[in-house]
Amino acid sequence: MQPTYFITGTDTGTGKTVLTTLLAAYLRSQKIRVAAFKPVCSGGRALTLDEINPWHFRAGIAPVLAARREKQMVRRAEVLAHIRALRKNFAVTLVEGAGGLLSPLGEDFDSRDLILALRATPVIVAPNRLGAVNHLLLTLAALPVSVRAKAKVVFMSPPKPDTATGTNTKLLGEFFPQEKIFTLPWLGRKIPPAVATGNLRRILQDLIRA
Ligand SMILES: Nc1ncnc2c1ncn2[C@@H]1O[C@H](COP(=O)(O)OP(=O)(O)OP(=O)(O)O)[C@@H](O)[C@H]1O
Ligand SMILES: [Mg+2]
Repeated sequence: MQPTYFITGTDTGTGKTVLTTLLAAYLRSQKIRVAAFKPVCSGGRALTLDEINPWHFRAGIAPVLAARREKQMVRRAEVLAHIRALRKNFAVTLVEGAGGLLSPLGEDFDSRDLILALRATPVIVAPNRLGAVNHLLLTLAALPVSVRAKAKVVFMSPPKPDTATGTNTKLLGEFFPQEKIFTLPWLGRKIPPAVATGNLRRILQDLIRA
């Protein structure tokens, strides 16, 4: 089966979209057919393409609540059917969750449910700052052992390091395989849309390969 990566995080706003975009651009540059989904989303201003983001709600609150506010109910089965139907046509599928692993996405599911049902590789994005190791260990602990064994962790570098930024990777490595821990650099206020080059490209390459 073609690989599906599920990009989740320790929280909202950790850099999931930044990573998903970089991975999609990298794979396309390799001429690999890649599908990128953000199936459930809340708090967005503009509607995106329906296929990418079919369940889209305006209020910047948990998606399940944003949907109810618009008198809609999102169900696990329909989201899964949508992704399964479309991913058949692609070599690699990227799915971005909303919020963190257990943020309620719809009436009867969260990102963990989708990861399990899609047999996806979880990619957990965390800001590289104090507290991240705890948040990452909690997130990893919430995955069944067999799924945790496939997981990867991405630390997003902050614009300014704090007291933990320099040591988080090594500390997490005492509990989780070091070779599955990646660090993305801070890319500045205006993230270049172009395909990653140099070191960034190597990190993305390793992430997909590991
Ligand atoms: N490595 C980075 N370099 C520069 N800016 C970054 C980086 N990572 C994240 N950001 C910025 O942090 C903010 C949040 O990132 P992003 O939108 O990717 O988070 P998210 O996890 O997708 O959020 P949501 O839960 O809303 O989907 C954005 O403004 C983004 O540009
Ligand atoms: Mg996002």
